[in-house]
Amino acid sequence: PTVTYIEHDGTEHRIELEEGLSVMRGAVDNGVPGIDADCGGECACATCHVFVEEPWLAKTGTPSEQEASMLSFAATAQPNSRLSCQITMTPELDGLVVRLPEAQH
Ligand code: FES
Repeated sequence: PTVTYIEHDGTEHRIELEEGLSVMRGAVDNGVPGIDADCGGECACATCHVFVEEPWLAKTGTPSEQEASMLSFAATAQPNSRLSCQITMTPELDGLVVRLPEAQH
């Protein structure tokens, strides 16, 4: 499945990810800037914050309680905010579009 990451300045990165990989891992492994992922995917840092584009919100589901509480530490959190380490790629998410915040801290 393919994910498009859109940086805060509008730069787009279209990346083919293996199924089962997280959206965070896909960015980090492919050099997409803007995701720090300090905790390495443990849902414990909130520095892998992304905004999920509207048509994908339903398919990516809702944050777990732990994710929601971590997101409350993200400076620019919005209703469509997610922690990208908590979104796992499936065939249904092919074409997913996420936007990156201006900064993770
Ligand atoms: Fe730390 Fe996602 S990488 S919460």
